[in-house]
Amino acid sequence: MPGRPFLQIPGPTLVPDRVVRAMSQPLIDHRGPQFANLLKGVLEGLKKVFQTSRGDIVLNPGSGTGAWESCLVNTLSPGDRVLGCVNGHFSARFCDVASAHGIEAERIEVPYGASTPADRVEEQLRADVNRRIKAVLVLHCETSTGVVTDIGAIRRAMDRADHPALLLIDVVSSLACTDFRFDEWRVDVALTGPQKGLMLPPGMAILAVSPKAREANRSAKCGRYFWDWAPVFERNARGEFPYTPATALIFGLKESLAMLEEEGLPNVFARHARLAEACRRAVTAMGLRILAKNIKESSNTLTAVCMREGFDSDAYLDHAQKTLELPLGPGLGDVKGKIFRIGHLGSLNELELLGALAGVEMTLTSFGVAVPLGAGLAAAETYLLQTARGGPGKGL
Ligand SMILES: Cc1ncc(COP(=O)(O)O)c(C=O)c1O
Repeated sequence: MPGRPFLQIPGPTLVPDRVVRAMSQPLIDHRGPQFANLLKGVLEGLKKVFQTSRGDIVLNPGSGTGAWESCLVNTLSPGDRVLGCVNGHFSARFCDVASAHGIEAERIEVPYGASTPADRVEEQLRADVNRRIKAVLVLHCETSTGVVTDIGAIRRAMDRADHPALLLIDVVSSLACTDFRFDEWRVDVALTGPQKGLMLPPGMAILAVSPKAREANRSAKCGRYFWDWAPVFERNARGEFPYTPATALIFGLKESLAMLEEEGLPNVFARHARLAEACRRAVTAMGLRILAKNIKESSNTLTAVCMREGFDSDAYLDHAQKTLELPLGPGLGDVKGKIFRIGHLGSLNELELLGALAGVEMTLTSFGVAVPLGAGLAAAETYLLQTARGGPGKGL
């Protein structure tokens, strides 16, 4: 297909050319002084993105799943209990990783489309009089449903219960897109991959770790070798790793951090919020329902759209791929075949979003779902015209 391809899944996203170019430079010695400089810069840059000065960064080769494992095996022991907040497919899998390591996961489950209720977290923690719960596991954004949980509210609930559990947050589909405050919310571990807001190809597990989590690490008994933080911190202090790092991805990371710095994090958040609102308005104008039960909790990184009754969303996605080569995210877990997800995160602008929305309207129509052709685009265009890049009130 001529022209730039579209990749409207909720990550990985298209990698900006600047990042591609940065990754294609000749490799360097990962034990040399040039690498030590590079590493120092990206660790500092990542701290800014996590909004932390008290946390340390761990950078492993891996993926988001690896980041879950790295987080859990480094802070907990077999037989420990955690409180897992489950509101979709990925939050359930975070708990599954805990169970795989002999950690007991007590779950607060809410239906797909809901956020994690802070009052239920408080209730469960208050009921834990013997302080058996060692950690609370929450997803900032549940990518399978496009719903964001208020992490500040979860922290306040833990404070009200006066419970010492660690706060472990998955920010895979929110970091570098949505305001996430590691220090202010006193998060203990925040974990992500590079393939979403950081605009890189997949291939790393990236974590911010609080002093309290490092303390827990010293007594955590889960088996670990590759994921062990201790040698990573020790060798990082000398500008190297205890294994061969993903050098090319780290080249790319330096560039993507520079891009975030140039745009400014508040502007990055505002851009995502504006494009997300345009998408939500478009979907609503197409006569389709958004899965998020409370629209104020819908994510600025993706929109989960309920398929019209009587149509299979997996079959629709096949059709969108075959006809316009438009990849969209499928429904996962409880909503398989019932929803599709439009990713609008990372390096994305107004015209790219409008192109994707035009593709959704056209492919829904040719699939047989009656949508008023052009109505979604008009709603998105109107909203974009009424709102300014980088702030309200100025117009385009
Ligand atoms: C919120 C969330 N956590 C974890 C993961 C797992 O990440 P990975 O597929 O990189 O292992 C994903 C994947 O999309 C995700 O969206």
